[in-house]
Amino acid sequence: MAIPSNRPDQEITADVGGQANVEALHRVSRDFRSDTLTIPTDAQLLFALKASRGDDVYGEDPSTTALERRIAKLTGKEAAMFAVSGTMTNQLAIRTHMKQPPHSVITDYRAHVHKMEAGGIAMFSQATTHQLFPENGLHLTADDIEPALMLGNNIHIAPTKLICLENTLSGIIFPQDEVVKIGELAKKHGIGMHLDGARIWNPICDSLTELLAPFDSASLCLSKGIGAPIGSAIVGSREFIERAKWFRKAFGGGIRQSGGIAASAEYALDNHFPRLAETHRLARRLEEGLKELGCGILAPVDTNMVFFQPQKIGLSLDAVMARLAALPDPIIVGRERCVLHHQTSPQAVEDFIACVRDMKEALQANGKGSVDKGQVNGDEKEKIDKYTQPKGKTTEAELRKQAALGY
Ligand SMILES: Cc1ncc(COP(=O)(O)O)c(C=O)c1O
Repeated sequence: MAIPSNRPDQEITADVGGQANVEALHRVSRDFRSDTLTIPTDAQLLFALKASRGDDVYGEDPSTTALERRIAKLTGKEAAMFAVSGTMTNQLAIRTHMKQPPHSVITDYRAHVHKMEAGGIAMFSQATTHQLFPENGLHLTADDIEPALMLGNNIHIAPTKLICLENTLSGIIFPQDEVVKIGELAKKHGIGMHLDGARIWNPICDSLTELLAPFDSASLCLSKGIGAPIGSAIVGSREFIERAKWFRKAFGGGIRQSGGIAASAEYALDNHFPRLAETHRLARRLEEGLKELGCGILAPVDTNMVFFQPQKIGLSLDAVMARLAALPDPIIVGRERCVLHHQTSPQAVEDFIACVRDMKEALQANGKGSVDKGQVNGDEKEKIDKYTQPKGKTTEAELRKQAALGY
């Protein structure tokens, strides 16, 4: 049996994982649609073989319990609960916060919890979602939220019971000082705070404990950048997690012999999490290469996502996507959002840039096309000035044009 390699492109061998999976890994290394597309490696599944095989619905699976304890400790919360998906952990956490209608949840209008979870908040928590537009175009602020709070006993309103933030959103890191201010506002009014931290692993220079301190609960996906095949965790107080377990059972989300999937996630924490810095470096390389060619970059590249606009050099997005997909070794892109992950190959990034360069040169050879100067990253204020146009009130239509869509 071949020894699993440490090189991402050799982590599945024909001997261990089978030729079809070697080829699948190669395809994933050139697929920029999402960081959910990563596939389990040979070593990860071999590690999972050794996991305990107890029944976690009875609380009797040591591998799952160990993972939950580790995540609770990493995030500075009392307890954690493992479940199958980020949608489930978000919806379970929200349901656990919400006690009795009428009640409402404040979110960013792009938030996954309200936009991409099949209306789960209305379905499971019987709550109204109050979606706000960030005035600065990038992230909500306490100033955006305060006037939107539904407070008091007026029988016409659905009182705000929860503020739900997302970090990262469109790959953008939520400034922590603003999160702290929003947390203080919530506390002042007895409102809960939940974080959709599907990609909270990405702001790697900060401790998770600090990032999560303003939140009563958070959902952390293990199957996105971290590269577990399945899984997400909720963290919170012991009492909160005990109540969430009740709802997990009611949702049909208890997993019996969950040890193998918990161990795959444990492996990902040890072996894939440390690779995020390299993923971010590759994202910056893609940004830089596309920017040098004159493409627009529509949102700050803080982590693993690059939103690009080839229209700025006279190329349509459809044409670029079609050409990338038609390369001898195809590259797949899901419109303007390019997501990188620990299995993205550096060669794919170079091939991507080279393909856009070829298209631009062909266009110029035909005497068509225009090239604008690119943009550079800056600090928080510069970012806001740079990526939010026009100034003043930001509308959904304008944000959509900028492609900071939050999907
Ligand atoms: C920000 C965010 N939250 C939650 C989820 C839901 O995760 P899952 O697909 O595991 O249900 C996603 C999925 O992509 C996401 O991007």
